[in-house]
This record gives sequence, structure tokens and C-alpha cells, in this order.
Amino acid sequence: MKRIEDYGIVFPEGYYQTLLDKYTNEGVRYPHILMNIGQPRINSHFFYSRGFEGCGRLLDYGCGTGENIRQLIRDGFPRERIAAFDINWASINLGFDLYRDQKEICDLFTVSETFPFGPAEFDMVFSGSVFHVITDDEILGNYLANAWSVLKPGGILFGSTAGLAGEEVVKSHGEWRPPRVMTRDQLSGYLTGTGFNPIKIVEHRRHAYHHIPHYADICVHEFCAKKPA
Ligand SMILES: C[S@@+](CC[C@H](N)C(=O)[O-])C[C@H]1O[C@@H](n2cnc3c(N)ncnc32)[C@H](O)[C@@H]1O
Repeated sequence: MKRIEDYGIVFPEGYYQTLLDKYTNEGVRYPHILMNIGQPRINSHFFYSRGFEGCGRLLDYGCGTGENIRQLIRDGFPRERIAAFDINWASINLGFDLYRDQKEICDLFTVSETFPFGPAEFDMVFSGSVFHVITDDEILGNYLANAWSVLKPGGILFGSTAGLAGEEVVKSHGEWRPPRVMTRDQLSGYLTGTGFNPIKIVEHRRHAYHHIPHYADICVHEFCAKKPA
């Protein structure tokens, strides 16, 4: 919450405890969201500045708290060209509670169990930390197929996912960790298998999880993948 106050959000007396009670009771689906809240990842992505060239339409696919679209708006990306989508309201509502901006921003979010957008509606799709929470191969395949379909020819899918810094899958030590951690080759295979070409993957070994010993093998793969024109 301190990081969010740095954006100028003012919390009334007792608000911290109110949120703590609310989310302790409700549970938070992806607890690591809380570790990273107030630290959007999109603006450090290697593709980010190029995304502003032409300012095409952008879909944040699996938007969670909405951290990344708030950063886009802060950086001057045209608000009317942004859409954010998720399959449930849980994290989006947490974002509203933390940023206290539901009235100003809720029109940008869509939640549905089925993908609501038609073909070629967007120039860019951002996917931040979504692949690594999708355990089921078929669901990941559908997710990628939707990202492909919703992009215009020449459009770009960019984002990040937790990955394995090494070649081999290292067994979990019984603690929670991202359920799908792919090697660079596996990620590349999924992207090219969907039809994206060319693709670029940059591996970042310094990661928020690295202070936890059993995450030492985990990196972040930042990727950018083009739907050929
Ligand atoms: C770890 S959170 C990341 C949220 C946000 N993109 C970020 O960078 O902070 C993963 C999000 O992906 C969403 N998600 C999981 N499976 C999805 C799917 N099949 N389609 C769309 N969103 C999905 C979850 O509901 C969750 O909000």
C-alpha cells in the first residue's frame, strides 16, 4: 500500500485494516500479486516504448489488478485505445480497492468466462504473468489462439511469464511456485506453434522471487511475437 500511496492515492483512517479483513476472509487467488502490487511490469518490457509508436489498440489479456493499464494511462497512452480482460473479477476488484478509482476506470475492464472480442480488433496484446498460471495445455492453447485471432495482421503479442533459467524442469520443493514454468525452448514452441513469427525472448534472471531459495532456478521470460502481416 505504501507503493500505491506514492502514486498519490490517499487511504482513509483504518482502510488498511478494512482491506486486510476483507481479503483475508475472501482469499487472494494469486498471492504474488500482492508482493508485486504497485510495481507494474509492462513499462520495463523491452517492447514498451515501441508500443507507443502509432498507439494502436491494446488488449491487456489476463489483466489481474489492472496495474499495467494504469501505468499505460499514466504514461500517456490514449485511454480510449485500451481494453483489459480477465476471466474473473477477483484481482480487478482488489485493484479498485487499492487504487480507489473504480468509477474512473471500470469501463475499461471486461470479465467473461468466454473470450468476448472478435477477430483483428487489436494492434497489440499484452500478456503479463498469465502463461505461468495456466496449468492446462488446452486452455493455454485456446488463450494463445485467442491472442492470435484478436490481433490484426502485423500485430504484436508481448508480455512476460515465469520461466526456467535452466534446460531441465527442476522439481518443486513442495512450496507454492508458478504452476507452469517453461524453458525458453518450450515458450518459443508455444508461440511459433500458434503461428507467431518472428519471436524474441529475453531472459531476466534477477526476479522478485529470487529471495526465496527454492525459486533460484526461476527467471522471467519477456517475449514479443508478431502475427505475420
Ligand atoms: C498472476 S495474474 C497477472 C495479472 C496481470 N497481468 C499482471 O501482470 O499483474 C494472472 C491473471 O491471469 C488471469 N487468467 C488466468 N487464466 C486466464 C485465461 N485463460 N484467460 C484470461 N485470463 C486468465 C487470472 O485471472 C489472473 O488475473
